[in-house]
Amino acid sequence: MTPPKHVAIIMDGNGRWGIRKKKSRNYGHKKGIETVDKIISAAIYKKINYLTLFAFSTENWKRPKNEVEYLFKLLNYYINHEIKNLLKKQIKIKILGNINQFPFKLKSNIRKIERLTKNNNNIQVNIALNYGSRQEILMAIKKIFKKHLKINKTNLEKNLYTSNIPDPEILIRTGDTNRISNFLLWQCIYSEIFFEKKMWPDFNEKDFYRILKKYKRIDRNFGGLNERN
Ligand code: IPE
Ligand code: IPE
Ligand code: MG
Repeated sequence: MTPPKHVAIIMDGNGRWGIRKKKSRNYGHKKGIETVDKIISAAIYKKINYLTLFAFSTENWKRPKNEVEYLFKLLNYYINHEIKNLLKKQIKIKILGNINQFPFKLKSNIRKIERLTKNNNNIQVNIALNYGSRQEILMAIKKIFKKHLKINKTNLEKNLYTSNIPDPEILIRTGDTNRISNFLLWQCIYSEIFFEKKMWPDFNEKDFYRILKKYKRIDRNFGGLNERN
């Protein structure tokens, strides 16, 4: 079995983790950043080409203003503090989603980090921000229509945020919740899905390696038959 090129993760459970520690939901988000660093390093170590992290969904605007603002603050903090590290480790950052509605300063910071890391080639880390699959698919259809292109699979894929990125072989969701929550619906049709009981701040490299090991043993049929069947 060839190693996976692309692993996507729904980083869920920060809020509950914070509350269980008798602190706040926001404390959980802050701790969650440490896991992001650990898992990026683990993915580099395993020579994964693309790591996609779901950080803010099109539905997350429904949360209290204080939490949304805190998430934006953390993102700004992450960008400012990680830039050196991203350049040193040759990590390319790409945003999936529509960040137009984000505060001006955050938007320009995000654009800056994409620009500064665009030639890095150790791993591409896609951060899904204000991302929703339905919005993405509708956007792609509108673009195809505007460009007077044929509606087919190739053109649709070319107009998604994930154009030129292979479909994830593995989708992980932490936080003990078994749903997709509007994430990569087009791209995950044949992904191996791992629902993890641990909340995101408790998830670690060992958990990640365990999943990769388990993935190696899976027969992937894509609707056909495998030689062992
Ligand atoms: C995931 O953790 C991170 C974001 C959605 C930003 P949650 O905030 O959803 O944590 P829980 O699921 O409420 O515990
Ligand atoms: C999914 O988690 C979104 C992110 C991890 C960014 P949610 O916590 O928003 O999902 P639901 O509401 O439990 O489905
Ligand atoms: Mg959640």
